[in-house]
Amino acid sequence: MKRVAVVTSGGDAPGMNAAIRAVVRTGLHKGWDVFGIRQGYIGLINDNVIPLGARDVGGIIHQGGTILGSGRCPEFETEDGRLKAIRTLSQHAIDALVVIGGNGSQAGAYALSTMGYPVIGVASTIDNDLYGSEITIGADTALGVAIEAIDRLKVTASSHERAFVVEVMGRDCGYLALMAGIAGGADAIVIPEVETDPESVATVIRAAYSRGKRHALVVAAEGARCNAQRMSLYFQEHKQRLGFELRVTILGHVQRGGAPGAFDRLLATRLGAAATEHLAKGEHGILVGLIKDEVTATSLEDVVSSKKQLDLRLLELARVLAE
Ligand code: F6P
Repeated sequence: MKRVAVVTSGGDAPGMNAAIRAVVRTGLHKGWDVFGIRQGYIGLINDNVIPLGARDVGGIIHQGGTILGSGRCPEFETEDGRLKAIRTLSQHAIDALVVIGGNGSQAGAYALSTMGYPVIGVASTIDNDLYGSEITIGADTALGVAIEAIDRLKVTASSHERAFVVEVMGRDCGYLALMAGIAGGADAIVIPEVETDPESVATVIRAAYSRGKRHALVVAAEGARCNAQRMSLYFQEHKQRLGFELRVTILGHVQRGGAPGAFDRLLATRLGAAATEHLAKGEHGILVGLIKDEVTATSLEDVVSSKKQLDLRLLELARVLAE
């Protein structure tokens, strides 16, 4: 008999609930007791632990967010905070912890595992910047939200022959901006991995107008130095010379709140189920993710010490397609 807990940590991502459901139901199927930790690592430190039965995770597979709540917890970055967490888990006689989250959360998971506590990570972040999974839970749905917004803005941009910049999330990773830019048919894509400046963006927009386009669309990543705010200021300052304005839409957290699409529900279900399979075999200290369409385990040590690379050939392709 095993007693296993599941926690969702860091920024919420559409599909986290499907992952919780998979962990709980596959765990119960094995005859285990399953617990949920409320509010991410904060709940581990404050002993906010609840038992989870099959009905507790009913009707959540289609819901965005996380029924357990999430949080960012600076105290967990300290050894003292993690010792409190281990004490909570020991008090409830919990044998292992499943951590559903992104980079910060998996860094916490790794730190806990180096202190001897059995942990398994499940790759989940809209940013898709986590080493060990080519695609993370929530990224596809967040991309869908961004594309829907871009499609709508393009309609207005065409009607008014305007230039728009749409800023998407992603922290210091350009994945969401690059993919949204390609799928949304952007004229320019600005990502942190390949820095540019507002004047170069203005040149691209002017060239688009002179090729007969009726609007211009730029997709920028929030983590780029030349983000929407910087571009907007520059375009305002140089309005007379440039000859056109740039309207700004910052999508922000709306990208995180969507109901998960089919891809994220399936990915979350597969990864959640794989986490309990590994625990059943006595394996931990790993992250489960998707690599070449196979559920794959990568050591948490490799996950926290490696950087996921963006395929920058796609940026070049986007330039060609913007013709
Ligand atoms: O990691 C997910 C994410 O949404 C990033 O894209 C963004 O930079 C950050 O979280 C925002 O964090 P918070 O919700 O704490 O403001």
